[in-house]
Amino acid sequence: MRVRTENGDRDIRAVWFEDGRVVMIDQRRLPHELVFVSFDDYRDVAEAIRNMTTRGAPSIGATAAYAMCLAALKGEDLETAARDIKAARPTANDLFYAVDRMAESLAEGADPVEAADAYAQSMVDRCIAIGEYGAPLIKDGFRVMTHCNAGALATVDVGTALAPIRKAWADGRRFFVYASETRPRLQGMQLTAWELNQEGIDHAIIPDGASGHFIRQGVDMIIVGADRIAANGDFANKIGTFEKAVLAKEFGVPFYVAAPISTFDFDTATGEDIVIENRSEEEVTVVAGNRIAPVGSPALNPAFDMTPARYVTGFITEKGILRPSEIEKVRG
Ligand code: MRU
Repeated sequence: MRVRTENGDRDIRAVWFEDGRVVMIDQRRLPHELVFVSFDDYRDVAEAIRNMTTRGAPSIGATAAYAMCLAALKGEDLETAARDIKAARPTANDLFYAVDRMAESLAEGADPVEAADAYAQSMVDRCIAIGEYGAPLIKDGFRVMTHCNAGALATVDVGTALAPIRKAWADGRRFFVYASETRPRLQGMQLTAWELNQEGIDHAIIPDGASGHFIRQGVDMIIVGADRIAANGDFANKIGTFEKAVLAKEFGVPFYVAAPISTFDFDTATGEDIVIENRSEEEVTVVAGNRIAPVGSPALNPAFDMTPARYVTGFITEKGILRPSEIEKVRG
């Protein structure tokens, strides 16, 4: 992604490997500061996934691939490393997919850095293809809604949900994007809006609770990413996705899920079987270091929700746009 910095424009990715270290954007510091952190121990990289220094399913996968690369370079036990890295977060399929692909490559004698770089590049290539397939869906004058961050930050580069948006804009079409803020970690406000801003794409941040208001007023298309897509097309994505999908059906708005095949989990039969991560109460009750909830009131914080396949108009993948009933075609 091309970003504006104090020293001019710069092309960067969300995560990469340099001089024996995994380097990543500290996404917790955006949009205020563009800061990079780097690690040379796979355990620290796993912690960076857990504490959301890096986030978004394909970026989590690529980061995990680089963590496996570090483990291999240092001659660590790869089964232990794979187990530790997979334990970082439970929902995003890309985490498990990436660790397994790296373990296979390393077992075949691949160079660790080359294998991890190839994995990260494959995510970027898939996102470019998702952009090519999805962009024609976005017409001049459209009002497009998205949720959470499914942009370059979440996918190494380019994005999944943001890929068709970037491509349609680059092709000269003009439209408007609603980015819902995404409580409690604010990925929509702090990351998606930052990316749209960098690209000069017309947009506004809306409170999560305003989605229904704007959908009823007139949204032409909703497009989101996914963390895991079950064999029947049910999918998990950031909390707040499900209600948008239900509202979309009520008002006849096409609802698209953009995701690479690495996010499809054919071993999980339905969405009911997807493990939904519960994160700390403090993510909900504490803002900028201050508790904003009454002392004594507990909070519940599911990080994802599950949307049944019947709400999905289509999955935009690197292999084309598939209806939920067609996803068997991309089973690996
Ligand atoms: O908890 P996060 O920030 O890792 O969650 C991110 C999301 O839910 C994204 O929408 C999803 O991973 C798709 S990213 C292309």
